[in-house]
Amino acid sequence: MGSLTTPSSDRRATVSLFSRLRTAQGQADPFPLYTELRSRGGVSPAPWGGLLVTSFDTCDRILRSGDWLEPDKSWRDRQGHSTRWNAPSAREISNTMPALNPPEHTSVRRAAGGFDRTTIQRMGETVRELTDGLLDTVADRLRDGEDEADFAALVSEELPVATIGAWLSLPSADWPQLRELTHEQVYTQELLPSSSQLARSDVAMAELRSYFMDLIRDRRSHLGDDPVSRWIQTWDAREPDRDKADEAVYFLVLFVLLAALETTSTLLSTTALMLLEEPTRWDLLHTRPDLIPAFVEETLRYDPPIHVISRVAARDGSLNGMEVRADDMVHLMVGAAHRDPVAHSDPEQFDPHRPTSHHLAFSGGIHYCLGAPLARLEAQTLLRQLVGRLPRLALTRRPPRAPRVAFRRLLRLDVALA
Ligand code: HEM
Repeated sequence: MGSLTTPSSDRRATVSLFSRLRTAQGQADPFPLYTELRSRGGVSPAPWGGLLVTSFDTCDRILRSGDWLEPDKSWRDRQGHSTRWNAPSAREISNTMPALNPPEHTSVRRAAGGFDRTTIQRMGETVRELTDGLLDTVADRLRDGEDEADFAALVSEELPVATIGAWLSLPSADWPQLRELTHEQVYTQELLPSSSQLARSDVAMAELRSYFMDLIRDRRSHLGDDPVSRWIQTWDAREPDRDKADEAVYFLVLFVLLAALETTSTLLSTTALMLLEEPTRWDLLHTRPDLIPAFVEETLRYDPPIHVISRVAARDGSLNGMEVRADDMVHLMVGAAHRDPVAHSDPEQFDPHRPTSHHLAFSGGIHYCLGAPLARLEAQTLLRQLVGRLPRLALTRRPPRAPRVAFRRLLRLDVALA
């Protein structure tokens, strides 16, 4: 059986690969680096401890297995108080749904509810109207003689916050600030955050706590027909201590906001990029709008918004012949696994005609993304309206990317009339 010790040359090569991956340049095209990583095997040691998984089947199996857990509060305690896992923002995240394990996770997920068909149908109308308005802004800008427009700022960054803001009944004046805070907090969930990035997350998280605790107190005095009011009622029925009930609602609404904004913005920008990069794709969707859902799924496979999902071992064992000790962390490199040739034929090709675009963009198993139907609704609506009503757009330059690893982000997406 292999162990986690690696020859120092391999270790140095992996360290160098991740330093390149963390730059804006590496993020512009991380896929050759993933091919390099995959060439070391579907499971390989991470230089900082634990394992990196690039095999699609192994990622899939881990997400569905009870032998692998979320790094929860007790795991974080065992890592020591001075580690990144116990920074104030990380402690805050450790109370949210994706950092819980059963049985607590099961009960919190049940209390959250989900997006059933009726809710999605109702939200569909709002998303259509919002998308229409945002595309009008892009069209007006370009028709009014401006050479180009930043599609990311005008559309991708706006639609998710307006959709979630309307759903949660948050005042629209607060949306820009909430969106900025979600961009700032993301570092605490990144693969290798620096201490200054963690400090930014800590500040953002403290502001988010104070915003949402005020909101919950206020909502308590005017309960209405909105998700926050419903969560308050659900938790009041379960938890006699009001402060604890408020805290539980806070962690739910906090995570919904964090989960829903940047990820969906990235999906919208990446979907638009896929369309603009290759003019024949615009023509294809214009004549075959029935391919729009498959186009979105292929985007989620080809370049998902989240490239790394992590788990920890519940007990000693092995993974593809590598020794694993209880508490060891595995990083599921899903961005790389989506290009695994064992799972997908011709994986480097973007092909909306694939019979099934099997992917792990929304994770798998018990933590499967609760918001997936909403993210799909936004991306499909955007594509439908783009190709249905706008004159053809063209990309004016390659979009710059934030220097990260796990959470992809296009900083701009400059477009012009084709
Ligand atoms: C394209 C957009 C999105 C992507 C790529 C995405 C991705 C993910 C992933 C990978 C996870 C699982 C993390 C893990 O396994 O540890 C997750 C969980 C979750 N997502 Fe999403 N998400 C998106 C949009 C949304 C939206 C719009 C919402 C809510 C409105 C949402 C709410 C959640 C929640 C509540 C969880 C926790 C589920 C659990 O732990 O049981 N997500 N998401």
